[in-house]
Amino acid sequence: MSDLPIDIKISKVSKSKIDQVDFNNLTFGKVFTDHMFVCDFKDGAWQTPEIIPYQPLTIAPSARVFHYGQAVFEGMKAFKDTNDEIWMFRPEDNFHRINKSSHRMAIPEFPKDYFFEGLTTLLQLEKDWIKKGKGNSLYIRPFVIATEEAISASPSNSYKFIIICSPAQSYYAGEVKVLFAEEYSRAADGGVGYAKAAGNYGAQFYPTSLAHAKGYQQIIWTDASTHEYLEEAGTMNIFFRVGDALLTAPTNDRILDGITRKSVIQLAKDNGIAVEVRRVKVSEIKEAARKGDLKEIFGAGTAAVINPIAGFEHGGEKFDLPKQEHSYASLFKEQLTNIQYNISEDPHGWRYKV
Ligand code: COI
Repeated sequence: MSDLPIDIKISKVSKSKIDQVDFNNLTFGKVFTDHMFVCDFKDGAWQTPEIIPYQPLTIAPSARVFHYGQAVFEGMKAFKDTNDEIWMFRPEDNFHRINKSSHRMAIPEFPKDYFFEGLTTLLQLEKDWIKKGKGNSLYIRPFVIATEEAISASPSNSYKFIIICSPAQSYYAGEVKVLFAEEYSRAADGGVGYAKAAGNYGAQFYPTSLAHAKGYQQIIWTDASTHEYLEEAGTMNIFFRVGDALLTAPTNDRILDGITRKSVIQLAKDNGIAVEVRRVKVSEIKEAARKGDLKEIFGAGTAAVINPIAGFEHGGEKFDLPKQEHSYASLFKEQLTNIQYNISEDPHGWRYKV
């Protein structure tokens, strides 16, 4: 890790493109801000970082990332409060997680001071892109790619660490119904499921497209060996409310250690809700649904925040979830976003002032 002072080179755009953006009609992840943070790894060290205008990269077609998918990423958000102050949510956790993901993918870890200096300098520069009001945020995407021109199957000697930002509203538009996985798997024991490795996401696209064709927006992945236990949704961790108890799978090497997930578990405890972090069987959820005990299913993730699930299918059986007047999903979303937007107290010290 570097302990040298950081001197980020900054080149600004001559004219911002912000006026061309309709902030009331954003599709998730389609519009990017004016600048990006870039830092190269070469000769065994991370070089002086730069902030430059958002632009295409020039990368050799032989770069290892294109052949072996040596790439990891993170998802974070920045929020603006009514006093125009900018906040992030638990960014230390994202920093640790990207390095955990990098470690698993044989990518050199990124220095903490570079990460935080880069992030805060970039956000200050892009502050006009962060709109006030609940539901508005700036989605931040740090990622690392292997850039060495070499196609032998081994780790790269050079990398780029980049941060791009995209103004965001909601991730899922409309009702979300899910299919419980019976055939395909997202992750296996000893694999990379816990890492935010690019390939974990790409590998879901084909089975998810089959689910889409059946009218489902997402797949709830089950354990690869038996398909009997519910694990995560791929873009979100997943929670079940049976009676008044909240159930979610424990993290392991197949499941992403979601920051929204652990915040929801804490909020549930703060609200006196019984939380069971344990393996959740497909059969028990179906049985609870048949008996009317399954009150809610919701996903939790940075991009999606808290997303209620309206129904699911498994083994050819379809289930619709009842509408709840006082749902846990809306309670947690309210409490979480109140902390994120600096509306309520922050008893666990999750907010980070930029
Ligand atoms: C996030 O919630 O930040 C994610 O990683 C989901 C992403 C694939 C859009």
